[in-house]
Amino acid sequence: MSDVSERQQKVSNNRISTDLGRAVDILRQGGLVAFPTETVYGLGANASDPDAVRRIFAAKGRPADHPVIVHISDVAQLSDWVGDVPQVALDLAEAFWPGPLTLILPRRDTVPNVVTGGLATVGIRVPSHTLAFALLRRFGGGVAAPSANRFGRISPTRAEHVLAELGERVDLILDGGAAEVGVESTIVDVSRGTPRLLRPGGVSVAQLREVLGEVIVPESVVEKHQQEADVRAPGTLASHYAPTTPTVLVEKTEIESMLTRYPRACVLSYYPHPAHLSATVWRHLSDSPVAYARELYTALRDLDAAACDLIIVAAVPDDPAWLAVRDRLRRATTPPTKASTESRTVTLEDNP
Ligand code: TXA
Ligand code: MG
Repeated sequence: MSDVSERQQKVSNNRISTDLGRAVDILRQGGLVAFPTETVYGLGANASDPDAVRRIFAAKGRPADHPVIVHISDVAQLSDWVGDVPQVALDLAEAFWPGPLTLILPRRDTVPNVVTGGLATVGIRVPSHTLAFALLRRFGGGVAAPSANRFGRISPTRAEHVLAELGERVDLILDGGAAEVGVESTIVDVSRGTPRLLRPGGVSVAQLREVLGEVIVPESVVEKHQQEADVRAPGTLASHYAPTTPTVLVEKTEIESMLTRYPRACVLSYYPHPAHLSATVWRHLSDSPVAYARELYTALRDLDAAACDLIIVAAVPDDPAWLAVRDRLRRATTPPTKASTESRTVTLEDNP
């Protein structure tokens, strides 16, 4: 092993750990600890320490007006962060905490502005991962944590992903293995009026309806593809959770013709690789939305690292059970109809 790679190995071994005591010390000192949750890994800092939370934004390259979620270990801590706790929040907490649900609630004045992005609300969640829970319990306070990736990139579902994303920008990475849910928490705004779904995730709309009766699901959450307007103005592209390799979402029936045009493309599908089609890499995930979600980000990372000039994702079934996966795929991709005229793809053709 060369000197350089040996040194890198040492740095990474030292940074990835299961030492809770060290993690708590770092949080108390205002440092950054990446930790596993059941959804994705979070990049945590003491939520009561504005300077510590600012370090999260610097490490991620995230704009300052994006609020971060506060993670707590117990519903009893809600009153530290939230002014009036509506009954519906308690009902949801009872049903889904600890678990992959974030509640948007009216904030207390004491919550640092850097946590809420200056909003009148704060996002709170109690994660169920045993290591996250243990960390929060031992730390005692709230931990502000977005997903532990660089801004706009794919969320990490393993400790090594965090190291690849953030390296020395994070003081410690707690290793809790592969995240079980694989996509981020469901976010529900219960701060006023009828509860509103802001982001589909680990808790399904059907599960929410069992508790809430009524929940508003905005059009923007269910639409199948990005708005064309978003794509025409690259500055406003809703691209998030995205690989660096150009990535397109394509109906199953169109994959063959795409592969003819892009013979060095990789494919991600929820069905087996049809024998007559050839692709540089064909990654087959489960046809169950839960199992597909668990593997999705790892698969996108792997395909991004493979030598493909395009990632073709087969559109998943248009069924409510696939809502969270469809949302993430939509954000990770450029619509195929537009992609053919977009400069990203033209560049590909110019540089075979
Ligand atoms: O599963 C998850 O939620 C993971 C794990 C680490 O807990 N966290 C996560 O955080 O996905 P992040 O920052 O990547 O996404 C949180 C989303 C952001 O889109 C943010 O704008 C929104 O939650 N959010 C946070 N506080 C909010 C608030 N007060 N009002 C509206 N949206 C809020
Ligand atoms: Mg994120």
